Order: sequence, then structure tokens, then C-alpha cells
Amino acid sequence: MPHSKPRLIVIDTDPGIDDAIGILLALASPEFSIAGMTTVAGNIGIETTTRNAGRLLAFAGREDIPVFAGAATPLSRPGPEPLNLHGKDGIGGVDLPDPTKQPEIQPAVAWLTELLLSEPAGTIDVLALGPLTNIARLILEKPDAATRIGRIVAMGGVIHETGNVGLRSEFNLWADPEAAAVVVASGLPLALVPLDVTRRVRATRDFAQALAASGRPLAAMVADLIESYFETTTHRESRPLHDPCVMLLALAPELFRLEDLRLSVSTGSAEEAGALTIDENGTQVQVAMGVDAPAALDLLVAKLTAI
Ligand code: BDR
Ligand code: CA
Repeated sequence: MPHSKPRLIVIDTDPGIDDAIGILLALASPEFSIAGMTTVAGNIGIETTTRNAGRLLAFAGREDIPVFAGAATPLSRPGPEPLNLHGKDGIGGVDLPDPTKQPEIQPAVAWLTELLLSEPAGTIDVLALGPLTNIARLILEKPDAATRIGRIVAMGGVIHETGNVGLRSEFNLWADPEAAAVVVASGLPLALVPLDVTRRVRATRDFAQALAASGRPLAAMVADLIESYFETTTHRESRPLHDPCVMLLALAPELFRLEDLRLSVSTGSAEEAGALTIDENGTQVQVAMGVDAPAALDLLVAKLTAI
């Protein structure tokens, strides 16, 4: 998207180590104009995900971007226990400052509604990095605003591989399967980035060290986040950069192979919840099914070291 007008985006997120990397990538990308961040419970509870969003903005000196707290629990079932994959603070214990600003008082869905109704239809994209509760609420409660979204790009689901929660379920869709079902069935323009692709875009310790060696502040913070990602697991040679793939797809769609698939979302038992099925009666969605991973990692480095 070089030289064109920045695309107006909202980041809907549950930071989260890989969320944090995706957010820093977005902050480093002049192709995006970030209208605000909405938070959702997921990797950890809503107070912590909201605080982490504020901490990241304080670190980057971007307190001009407002943060709106969203859903504390899924649409219609009790919230999942945090997986603790991202440490006690949800963000791997990295050294981030405290937020310098409180989150806004307006709830996430009310703000999203106002924003979408105030901008020309189709001009705002939502980059979704967590459970889809806020977006589902918007679709259910404010459909006139929701239909004005340009596109939703969401990390979630798994198509052919094994899930990371259940055999066929990925965390974001599993954490609120009813919300995922609403978003997929809505027919809104949706590009899904499933585990099949995000697991290909992996950071090694060498990758983190190269980022740290650049001496650039955002790159060094991402290096710390990747290091902390290793500390929350054992015996891994590399870690998948799930959520940054959303930003990478929005920045450089040519690096991804997108397929139109008809999908339905299971809202069944805990084991199946959030599972995606290719289904002729499902809703057509764009799904990233392939990626040029070395080029995607190069782009991440280029953006993080440019500022
Ligand atoms: C997704 O789940 C979360 O733990 C990550 O932040 C990512 O959004 C991967 O399944
Ligand atoms: Ca996430």
C-alpha cells in the first residue's frame, strides 16, 4: 500500500504476547491510521488486556490512540480460564511502562458504532486478534453500523491441521464459538488467518537477537516479547507469530494465498467448540491458506527497524 492514503483501522485485541507484536507492527506501519483499539477478554481477563493495550501505547508514545474496553465474557457462555501461555500479566513479563492514560469511558461496541456511522461506509477495517465477542455484539446489536465495516481480518480457526485447544479448534474461535459463528455467518467481508498459516510464520531466538541488535526501540521490544514467548513454553526451537499475520495480510496480501471457502462454526461441546467445517451450506469467507513466510518475516523486520 505504499504512497496511498493510510487505511483507517481498529485493532480488536486481547494482548497477549503475539497481539503485542502485531500492535507494535501496526504502530510501525504508516499504511495504517489507527482510529482506536478495542479490547476483549481472551488470553487473560479484560482488565489486564485493556491495561496491556495502554501499556503498549505508552511505550510507543502513542497515547493519542484511544483504548475502549470491550467484552469481559463470551456472548453466551462462561469465560474460559486463561491459558497462561502469555504469563501472569498476559504479556510475558516484559518491561513495559504503566499506561499514561485511562481507557475511555465509552464501551467498545458503542464507540465502534459511533465511529462506523461517522465515517464513509467501507472505509474502516477491523483487525481482530482475539475472541470475536465485540464484533459479534456489534453485528447483533448495531447491524446498520456493522455493515459499514470495510473488511474484518481475523486471526482464528484451523482448517486442515490439528487445533491448539481441541483437535479441531483454535483458541480465539474456541473461546467464544457463538461469537465466531455470528461473525462468519454475517456475510460481512471477512479474511480469516487460521493456524494452518500462522504456524508457518515463526520466530526463532536468532530472529529475536537480530531484532534486538538493530537497536531500534520497537524492534528491541518485539525481541523481548519473542524471548518471553519462549520462556512460557519449553523445548521449542521457534514460536508462531499468530496475530502479526493479520497485520501482514492487511499490509501485503500478495504474500498470502487466499482461498474462498464456505465455512460453518461449531458451537457444540467443549471439544468441538469453534471448530470450522468446510460446508456447502456455510458462508463464503476468504481464508489464508498459504504464505511466503520468509518474505512475511522480512516485512516484519523492515517495518520494525524503520522507525
Ligand atoms: C491465538 O490465541 C491467542 O493465544 C493468541 O494471542 C492468538 O490470537 C492463537 O490461537
Ligand atoms: Ca490474540
